[in-house]
Amino acid sequence: MQKLIVNGGKKLSGEIHIQGAKNAALPIMAASVLCGGEVILRNCPRISDVYSAMRILTYLGCKAGFEDKNVAVINSENISAEGISDELMREMRSSLFFLGAVLGRTGHCRITLPGGCDLGPRPIDMHLSALRKMGVTIREEFGTLDCTAENGLHGAKIDLSFPSVGTTENIILAAVTAEGSTIIRNAAREPEITDLAEFLNACGAKISGADCGEIIIRGVEKLHGCQYTVMPDRIVCATYLACTAAAGGDIVVSGCRPSDIEIILAVFEQMGCIVHTGHDKIYFSANRPLKAVAPIRTMVYPGFPTDAQAVVMAPLCRAKGTSVFVENIFENRFKHVGELCRMGADILVEGKVAVIEGVNRLYGAKTCAADLRGGAGLVAAALSAEGVSEISDIHYIDRGYEEIEKALSSLGADIIRI
Ligand code: UD1
Repeated sequence: MQKLIVNGGKKLSGEIHIQGAKNAALPIMAASVLCGGEVILRNCPRISDVYSAMRILTYLGCKAGFEDKNVAVINSENISAEGISDELMREMRSSLFFLGAVLGRTGHCRITLPGGCDLGPRPIDMHLSALRKMGVTIREEFGTLDCTAENGLHGAKIDLSFPSVGTTENIILAAVTAEGSTIIRNAAREPEITDLAEFLNACGAKISGADCGEIIIRGVEKLHGCQYTVMPDRIVCATYLACTAAAGGDIVVSGCRPSDIEIILAVFEQMGCIVHTGHDKIYFSANRPLKAVAPIRTMVYPGFPTDAQAVVMAPLCRAKGTSVFVENIFENRFKHVGELCRMGADILVEGKVAVIEGVNRLYGAKTCAADLRGGAGLVAAALSAEGVSEISDIHYIDRGYEEIEKALSSLGADIIRI
């Protein structure tokens, strides 16, 4: 079992380039199934969830692999399987994107329930109800969902009760080659949805309104392959800023989109960090004692992202005063708190609220990642702690970060993987 060993207390400095976005690359890889040709994806992150998506593509009969460092090539000319094995479905939540894509391509797909980080109940009722509206019959037997669009998929008007990211993306995937038009109202507006829509439009789809909550998809007969560059990962960007806020130092983040994380940058400014942004760069300094911030409520985009909650909590553990997080998206997303307390943090969780009393120092401890972003939060806290910390179960962190230890070492952190 691999672990990260962090010797805390070293300030960070230098420049770091941000990897491509996991939450854009995964639905785009599923969308490649619809193209029936070659897709060349640049800026595709080499993370374990992307390798899981490649295994699903290969299982389905496509060709998928990395050609160069971050260039993935997918060829979906042939689709031979009628569904996805239980083992592959369990590897990640995003396996569910393949349902909409395979249905769009073949009209039939058999899956089991997806896996992924345990953030509390993660039902798929909204995905299934939308697909039913588009002409899909779903038979559930012994944990398997057998989904068939006997007369093909057709467009529909779909009002989402909550702007779910995955549901919005699955509907888009099913709708691009459906008969007629689909309108999604109260659609999620996360930037990764726009990236998926732009990729599909580059393949010949007709999608509009992907960033404004009402998405219109006019079905086309077929798509073709394309070359596409995946957007930068806004949560990875927030993570390296949080690491610097926690450890102190001055860094430049390049290849990012500051406009996607304005709300997170405002929180770092409240902490006392200095932030300057360029078109695709952030100049970031954290050289003063940090201050507590006004209550942070996680919300759908453009609100404060739930995925940044754990990483931003890490520097706040040592900020002077009391900070509060209200987690509104997932029911069980404070699993990192107990581990932060092992490092000396003073945090009280009551339901969906976490109250952080800033302490003067954190100290190194043995900790255990329990999900992807919570694990990254532990790394950020360990960088600011006195002494040596150990973070185990780092397979969670590897789901979303490309060699996190190398990225942080390049900024001067003392961190190794054993
Ligand atoms: C996506 C992101 C994840 C992020 C989350 C919220 C990807 C690959 N993952 O996850 O990193 O944390 O958005 O920004 O893009 N829900 C239902 N029924 C459903 C679907 C969702 O009740 O059928 C609920 C969920 O349990 C959760 C909430 O809706 O409480 C938000 O989920 P959703 O927006 O769908 O998140 P994901 O697509 O799973």
